[in-house]
Amino acid sequence: MQTTAIVAKFEELFKNEPLISRAPGRVNIIGEHTDYNDGFVLPASVDKEMVFAIALNGTNSVNAFALDLNEQDSFNLDSIVPTEGWINYIKGVVAETAKKGLKPQGFDVVFAGDVPLGAGMSSSAALECGLATGLNKLFNGDLSKLDIVLASQMSEHNYAGVKCGIMDQFASTYGQTNKVIKLDCRTKEYEYHTLDITGHKLVLCNTNVTHSLASSEYNTRREQCEAGVEVIKKKYPEIINLRDVSVEMIKEFEGEMDQVIYNRCSYVVEENDRLVKACEFMDKGDLVNLGKMIYGSHEGLSKKYEVSCPELDFLVEQTLEDDNVLGARMMGGGFGGCTINLVKEDAVDAFIDRMTKAYKEGMGKDMLAYAVVIGPGARTEEAVEA
Ligand code: GLA
Repeated sequence: MQTTAIVAKFEELFKNEPLISRAPGRVNIIGEHTDYNDGFVLPASVDKEMVFAIALNGTNSVNAFALDLNEQDSFNLDSIVPTEGWINYIKGVVAETAKKGLKPQGFDVVFAGDVPLGAGMSSSAALECGLATGLNKLFNGDLSKLDIVLASQMSEHNYAGVKCGIMDQFASTYGQTNKVIKLDCRTKEYEYHTLDITGHKLVLCNTNVTHSLASSEYNTRREQCEAGVEVIKKKYPEIINLRDVSVEMIKEFEGEMDQVIYNRCSYVVEENDRLVKACEFMDKGDLVNLGKMIYGSHEGLSKKYEVSCPELDFLVEQTLEDDNVLGARMMGGGFGGCTINLVKEDAVDAFIDRMTKAYKEGMGKDMLAYAVVIGPGARTEEAVEA
């Protein structure tokens, strides 16, 4: 993402020299809706990011300009209350990083980005983590990366109203070039794995739809998982959440709890299991079996967790008969956004072409495709990646 236009706008509006911070969106190989159940995820930061030009302004106000929208908004540090619109994200990050110990001062900011909105690539986490990283530098703070992640996540909970897990903010902050992160969402322990998919590419197919259900259904899924845990706890009081439940254990509860709740819980338990296996297959270079895990994830997300939609299901179905595709599934929260596809490298162009036509014919909509490039996580301009 070019910074030139952002800096030029900053200088024009605020007549000052800014520092630059940036943070990327993410993909997730497998492990969906597992993070808020204390399970595992396997995300990576991508080369699409949000970029910020920021400087102190010597006042008690924050003046923000969203370059992509050509809109300006302001608020006073003395009364930060959640409102509507994009300014809410800025407010949330200021308020939540302050809770972690950052001492806010008035500042000016111009930001823009190329993370597609509503595509399930976490443009909001990129916004939160990029700003939090920039403010930590601007205010001479000593927030750790994990503080930045947790403050950004709380900003999503308390200001955007989505009770998200930790995956997106973690990937945006901790991402490294060419690495996927295996994160244990309970302990926050993480390992970088090299994504060795030699001869293949990860391709995102964007449905270009975002169904309005997304955030309310997301919070409902979280509650349904908690309701399932309450039932399981009656027999197994030692469990804390679905992370502690094995594939065998959950089967004991079929017919013992509401069927919908059972479906949600058994999906999460199986997805954790698939992720552990998928990671081993990835490390061994067994892409055929990695692909099978990815398809299994979609099946569960669509049928048991019910967070897919006709457009996502259509795009996955289109790959089933294609020998050049090893795995495909919806990615992120669901109800729109992208599918992630493991595709043979020399077939990528033909694949995108075929999928684009099929989507237009079958769903009457335009599809967008991106080959994934894994880039570095959040940083300020001076920071050089280790
Ligand atoms: C959204 C949330 C994440 C995660 C995914 C689903 O992206 O922000 O925390 O729960 O959905 O895996």
